[in-house]
Amino acid sequence: MGRANRVVLAYSGGVDTSVCISYLKHEWGVKEVITLAADLGQGDELEPIREKALKSGADKSLVADLKADFIKDYAFPAIQANALYENRYPLSTALARPLIAKALVDAAEEYDADAVAHGCTGKGNDQVRFDVSIAALNPKLKVLAPAREWGMSREETIAYGEKFGIESPVKKSSPYSIDRNALGRSIEAGPLEDPWNEPLEEIYAMTRAIADTPDEPEYLEISFEQGIPVSLNGDTLEPLALVETLNEIVGRHGYGRIDMVENRLVGIKSREIYEAPALMALILAHRELESLTLTADVTHYKRGIEETYSQLVYNGLWYSPLKLALDAFVEQTQSRVSGVTRLKLFKGQATVVGRKSDHTLYTPDLATYGSDDLFDHKAAEGFIYVWGLPTRVWAEKVR
Ligand code: ARG
Repeated sequence: MGRANRVVLAYSGGVDTSVCISYLKHEWGVKEVITLAADLGQGDELEPIREKALKSGADKSLVADLKADFIKDYAFPAIQANALYENRYPLSTALARPLIAKALVDAAEEYDADAVAHGCTGKGNDQVRFDVSIAALNPKLKVLAPAREWGMSREETIAYGEKFGIESPVKKSSPYSIDRNALGRSIEAGPLEDPWNEPLEEIYAMTRAIADTPDEPEYLEISFEQGIPVSLNGDTLEPLALVETLNEIVGRHGYGRIDMVENRLVGIKSREIYEAPALMALILAHRELESLTLTADVTHYKRGIEETYSQLVYNGLWYSPLKLALDAFVEQTQSRVSGVTRLKLFKGQATVVGRKSDHTLYTPDLATYGSDDLFDHKAAEGFIYVWGLPTRVWAEKVR
């Protein structure tokens, strides 16, 4: 008896996931392997990947175009939550995992598979995100993770694959481990493993080096409706097109790079480089619009929600009950977050230089220092007396 009968495997076209096909069949006695390659806007040609799965022994090879859903249902809610893990990482890789998990589960149900599989190792966050998301969507499905158990080195994996006709990588493989999708790129390993090493310029693909950015600043107006980005410089765009256009504009000015040492869920610190130009600009612009349209108490309370939300997404709990409850909170706060933020892009920086909204709570009559000031200055005295009373009482006791 094998570990499963029919398996849907998340497939990237790389050596490791190709080897997973043979491994599942020959070591774990799986009868049928259906591969699923997800298009998340990573820019790969999917048809060669689909064919490669068949050449590597898959019984059926599927391709799922998830790009539009990725932006609309995963990125946009995260932008409404201003989600930044450890205050910096906009979760560009993490957000894709629950969606891939959903596609795997959908395919498993459609083809009546009893398990799904992925090629994650046992050291990263992605295995957690897959396993927990799959369990949340269909707790009856088994999850198989061959690379977590096989204990093969890179060379051994390649040699194992060759036995089953899986070609070893033609070009000398890069020392980096890279994950990419429409939201950004995550780069780790190789010389980056030393946190003291400055990243070489060669690792970047979506953002220009400062030396190559335009010598003139560029202004950009991003409009939101209920916390959702809808247009750039007045042109209404579909979610995916908006993100792609924005990656281009913002990346050209070199904004959106992050170099950090982060805390993985599995207890390891890792050094990671990110580039996520559109996502970083959208969070910046969105948060700015909230400063105009949310009350002080909602703004402040939401900061705590945002931090928890970011941790949940990072830690694989996208479909958890707490995450769903926080979604409802965030959603409720966004009903009046509509308007425009104006950014100035220049030499690696994105600076907010303007914001406006029909729902603005900014009241010139109250804010002004001019003669048309409507704020009742005398009222401040009584307010401050009451506000400071506990501190006054305390001070009188301790002096
Ligand atoms: N550390 C990030 C995360 O957990 C990105 C991991 C991406 N993988 C990579 N090979 N760079 O979301």
